[in-house]
Amino acid sequence: MNAIVSSASLSLDIAPYLDVAEVRRVRARVDIAVADRAWRPQVEDRSRDWVASVAAPCFKILRARRGDAACKAFCALGTGAGLDALAAIELLGADVVGVTDLFPDVVETAAGNVRRNLVGEVALHAGAGDLLAPLRASGVRFDLIYENLPNLPVADAAQVEVDKTSAAFLAPRSEATPKAVADGLLTLHYLALLQAHDFLKPGGAVLSTIGARLPLSVLTEMAEAAGHRPSFLTYWWKAQADADEVIASYAQWQKQGLFFHFYPVEVLEAAFAGLELEQAGRDALAIERDLRSYQLDAAQAWRLHRQGRRIGHTVAALLSEPKR
Ligand SMILES: C[S@@+](CC[C@H](N)C(=O)[O-])C[C@H]1O[C@@H](n2cnc3c(N)ncnc32)[C@H](O)[C@@H]1O
Repeated sequence: MNAIVSSASLSLDIAPYLDVAEVRRVRARVDIAVADRAWRPQVEDRSRDWVASVAAPCFKILRARRGDAACKAFCALGTGAGLDALAAIELLGADVVGVTDLFPDVVETAAGNVRRNLVGEVALHAGAGDLLAPLRASGVRFDLIYENLPNLPVADAAQVEVDKTSAAFLAPRSEATPKAVADGLLTLHYLALLQAHDFLKPGGAVLSTIGARLPLSVLTEMAEAAGHRPSFLTYWWKAQADADEVIASYAQWQKQGLFFHFYPVEVLEAAFAGLELEQAGRDALAIERDLRSYQLDAAQAWRLHRQGRRIGHTVAALLSEPKR
């Protein structure tokens, strides 16, 4: 993939980025502005980039499963630079698109990125603020709400701006959260699932993509507690991004009695070699069981990382459909 990257912008060939032969609804070469406070996509390396390696394959699976008409109204909750929305417009054929993120400048830039790179038009609803709340006044409803929200809490908004890693969000939260969800640092994912009930069309679903550093059963319990029927669309792995900061943060949480796990990258490579994405979703629990003896807790992962070992984690794409 031919990508040109500067601190404030990215320019990339979108077909290889999305791993498709050609694109119809977005420009072949997209120009993406990155707001100062925005989370920065890792487009230089598709395997590290969340949209390319997780969201786009999930959108393809959903389009094949649900058909052309089923995901026309799409929302990217916590869109960052808006690449997830462009991917959905191309891969799901979305023509009603919602985007939210925390700060107005980030959302305005993301909305500009979507508009500038379209061939044709979409009805775009963009709002800044917490989760889906900025879209409430518009009354818009979605077939698919996608989120790749952060897990690790930081203390205040100023730190989110400084930090800019995928692992930061505003804390503390006042809403009641089940203990397993709070202990799993899954609060934002849970709140998104709760809010989604008011924003989904009949037959709609939420696609939560989550670094699965905790048992998969906690993810399905979270979705059930939020009133959904969960299933795994896929289950895959990634090398830990921002490993210095993120593994160190999880090691700190371990000192406070919370447990998360990682794996050596070579174990994950071997475990997933030759697997097909959708099948891996169906086999997620069995794969997790087979990997169990290789799990590293956060302190072990941190020690090995400092010795130069490559550390990774699994990734779950959880599809949640309202029970009602
Ligand atoms: C890991 S980035 C994902 C960006 C993009 N969705 C992607 O997949 O490339 C997480 C995004 O969630 C946003 N975010 C964090 N907390 C949020 C909240 N409470 N409401 C809305 N967005 C939030 C962050 O600002 C960031 O842009």
